[in-house]
Amino acid sequence: MAFPQNDAYGIVVGRRKEKLDSFVNKHAEGKAAAVELDIKKLDRTQPKQTSIVYTSSKLGIVPMVRAPKYGASKAALHHFVLALREQMKDGPGNVNVVEIFPPAVQTELHDGKHQPDLKNGHQIGIPLQELIDSTRAGLVKDDEQIAVGLAKGIFDAVEPTRQRILRDLHAQLTKILQDFLV
Ligand SMILES: NC(=O)c1ccc[n+]([C@@H]2O[C@H](COP(=O)([O-])OP(=O)(O)OC[C@H]3O[C@@H](n4cnc5c(N)ncnc54)[C@H](OP(=O)(O)O)[C@@H]3O)[C@@H](O)[C@H]2O)c1
Repeated sequence: MAFPQNDAYGIVVGRRKEKLDSFVNKHAEGKAAAVELDIKKLDRTQPKQTSIVYTSSKLGIVPMVRAPKYGASKAALHHFVLALREQMKDGPGNVNVVEIFPPAVQTELHDGKHQPDLKNGHQIGIPLQELIDSTRAGLVKDDEQIAVGLAKGIFDAVEPTRQRILRDLHAQLTKILQDFLV
């Protein structure tokens, strides 16, 4: 797990400097630095096992009618992750590409400031701690796809078929492309 206490690297992002400062003060004083991340160089720059963790959503598998742009952006992220994972399997390194599929979670995302037509939006979904506990359990087991709560049923209904087709297509296209690659 990517915890500074275990001398593992973690990357934290955000626009609100005070939140990042408070994270650094709490977990990683003296250990934080701005670094450039180049996925292509991960194998060489990171001798230990590396994981890239993406947070998508069950709404990247099936859209929510109310939020078409959000669902489309998560669907795009999901496709990107599926392809990146296959690319990384063909590479020389030890890079896990992890995707987390949360259900609705009680965070700022549903606050009136982001979704003004909602009231008490922060009560929508499971408590954040539940997501953290389930995600941690998946990461500890080295799961590369972690679908939590209501996301799990949707994941199980759609993804095994999608990902079987992906692997078959990847094998076919790799063969076909051999004659065309320069
Ligand atoms: N909450 C849910 O129901 C739910 C369900 C499924 C998936 N998710 C996904 O889980 C992830 C976290 O969402 P959340 O619910 O925790 O939302 P949130 O409470 O609104 O937090 C979003 C986080 O992203 C950071 N952020 C926003 N824009 C950024 C930018 N341009 N550059 C860097 N950091 C940025 C924010 O920090 P600053 O404001 O300081 O930049 C904040 O820490 C998102 O990818 C979301 O789509 C959430």
